[in-house]
Amino acid sequence: MQAVSRRLGHQSLKPTSLKSVFPLYDQYNGAADQWRYASTLTNSRGVGNLVRKGTGGRSSVSGIVATVFGATGFLGRYLVQQLAKMGSQVLVPFRGSEDSPRHLKLMGDLGQIVPMKYNPRDENSVKAVMAKANVVINLIGRDYETRNYSFEEVHHGMAEQLAMIAKEHGGIMRFIQISCLGASPSSSSRMLRTKSAGEEAVLREIPEATIMKPAVMIGTEDRIMNRWAHFVKNYSFLPLMGDGSTKIQPVYVVDVAAAIIAALKDDGTSMGKTYELGGPEIFTVHELAELMFDTIREWPRYVKVPFPIAKAIAMPREVLLKKVPFPLPTPNIFNLDEINALTTDTVVSETALTFHDLGIVPHKLQGYPIEFLVSYRKGGPQFGSTISEKISPDSFP
Ligand SMILES: NC(=O)c1ccc[n+]([C@@H]2O[C@H](COP(=O)([O-])OP(=O)(O)OC[C@H]3O[C@@H](n4cnc5c(N)ncnc54)[C@H](OP(=O)(O)O)[C@@H]3O)[C@@H](O)[C@H]2O)c1
Repeated sequence: MQAVSRRLGHQSLKPTSLKSVFPLYDQYNGAADQWRYASTLTNSRGVGNLVRKGTGGRSSVSGIVATVFGATGFLGRYLVQQLAKMGSQVLVPFRGSEDSPRHLKLMGDLGQIVPMKYNPRDENSVKAVMAKANVVINLIGRDYETRNYSFEEVHHGMAEQLAMIAKEHGGIMRFIQISCLGASPSSSSRMLRTKSAGEEAVLREIPEATIMKPAVMIGTEDRIMNRWAHFVKNYSFLPLMGDGSTKIQPVYVVDVAAAIIAALKDDGTSMGKTYELGGPEIFTVHELAELMFDTIREWPRYVKVPFPIAKAIAMPREVLLKKVPFPLPTPNIFNLDEINALTTDTVVSETALTFHDLGIVPHKLQGYPIEFLVSYRKGGPQFGSTISEKISPDSFP
């Protein structure tokens, strides 16, 4: 834990009695002096054997009490919605404004979505948000570094800390870590290298943890199609890194949330396994951009930016980030780590476990998953026909 504290950049905290952190600890655990926090997830058969009540809808009881770290983000809203829809209680740790988890509250029955303010750098507050959970899901991640938080701390240090606390907890039946497709110690992107270190750290602590590695996610709040469309509306062209021939396998965000739920609901077969979650089709970056241009009904205009030039454009932010006494703008299209990641193809490997192994057929992107792009359409959203109207319903699973 000291190593984690060092990585998290704060002083090691004194071990604290759980009773002081959770005042109702005795009440919930019966025996006052029995320390339940000792085992790992070993021998657990997942949450498949939890007592369930009801028909499986949002007013049922699934028995799952999940703490979802990073629930306030893009994937978080779809995951919380799917958890709540089956009658799970979802504890939503949030930092900053009370508004950040507000949209999640309505997704479940009264009292089922519980926002809890926490500080990821305070071990006790992390313990408090995990105290009553039997499932922990870690979605915490960031595509860029800030003055306050490095990739190493967010992707590695925090994941390791959550796994250690979950292991000490003893009542956690499933730990699911969300990483990224392409995360590996040899990746050219520092962000992906730290994601890989996070996976390793989690598995070191909890070998039964499930790792999900989604490809770039597409959906209403995504950070690829929206950014491209926004850029095109402002500047009438799209910068294409390299020559746009890098292969990617974008995936619909709802499918990724469904994969997490499927893993949670199984009898423990997904425990200790790593899944690579890519969509049904492989696109080059250029082909994906064509799809975006087609949907927003703009004439496709590209400016090909060779990788060295793209990196040179993105570099000043990285160099100056910790040197200037004020925050720098969030990187948008020219994000050094994303550019580095785009220098190699990122597709699901042939031997990997995938959606198929979780019993899910991922959606094609053409159609509903990219329908949100019509809001960028010249002449208003109603202008012309959408892609989903143009393709046959049979091709949309
Ligand atoms: N989006 C993609 O295309 C994609 C693709 C592959 C993998 N992933 C991975 O999937 C996970 C979810 O992605 P997403 O798109 O939903 O991410 P997102 O929208 O950026 O949300 C990230 C979440 O992490 C939290 N977070 C970020 N930095 C934090 C910090 N320093 N301390 C505490 N919490 C912090 C954010 O909390 P705040 O709201 O408080 O900032 C937010 O809830 C991430 O791990 C990401 O790396 C994403």
